[in-house]
Amino acid sequence: MNTTRSKAGRPARAALALALCGLLGIAAAASSAFAQLSASAGSVSAGQNLTVTLDLANARADSGYVALMFGGGIYFLDENGALQPYQAGAPTPRRLAQGGAGRHTLFSMTIPAGLAGQADFYTAFGQSGVDVLATPGALDMSSLQHVGVTLTAAAASADGKALYMQHCAVCHGGNPLANTDNILAGRDAAKTRQAIVEDTGGMGYLQSFITDAEHAAIAAWIANPT
Ligand code: HEC
Repeated sequence: MNTTRSKAGRPARAALALALCGLLGIAAAASSAFAQLSASAGSVSAGQNLTVTLDLANARADSGYVALMFGGGIYFLDENGALQPYQAGAPTPRRLAQGGAGRHTLFSMTIPAGLAGQADFYTAFGQSGVDVLATPGALDMSSLQHVGVTLTAAAASADGKALYMQHCAVCHGGNPLANTDNILAGRDAAKTRQAIVEDTGGMGYLQSFITDAEHAAIAAWIANPT
């Protein structure tokens, strides 16, 4: 979900916003007739699974679209459930070629550490082979559904210790207070990052393994190892 930033410009966002306004008025009345979109939970923490399902009361002959708005970008799920940044002017990837009656799993992933924010999923049915956000009438507005999910990064102190044991203890020992090879400087995540970039003590290989959020969690634990 934190892949390349969408190329979507303001007009596209405005089109989706318009579509959403339509949703607010119509979905309450029409949702049960067509579809029910739901997520595994309203709030999902790092390490937990987020699953978004769609229950269709009746089979649809048209194409099903799932848009995800996250971090200011617009993404669409393709037929494999993979996220594609929305591209204005290009045919919008569809999630379902035809939706049979019953439950469809639209999206399922384990939330990575550090990913936090509001994720909004929208589904609607309509015409295929066009940019559905830019083509008036392409989407059946009465089928539009929305679920919002809050993604919560794991608390820093919760996995800082585990990450330290996994990545650092082999050289710096299990107790940072012993200050083996100046590990206490790692209370400042920037110091650790610099040491890694400079390959200090052979630490350079860690560069591709540890995210910024994980560095912050490790630094917090080194500062207060309990
Ligand atoms: C392969 C062994 C190894 C691993 C794994 C390792 N380090 Fe180091 N690290 C060292 C050595 C050796 C030094 C001291 C090098 C020196 O003083 O020249 C060092 C130095 C440091 C320093 C001090 C840098 C400075 O400016 O003085 C920090 C902070 C640090 N490591 C943090 C970490 C953290 C946090 C991890 C885990 C994410 C980690 N290291 C993993 C070997 C390792």
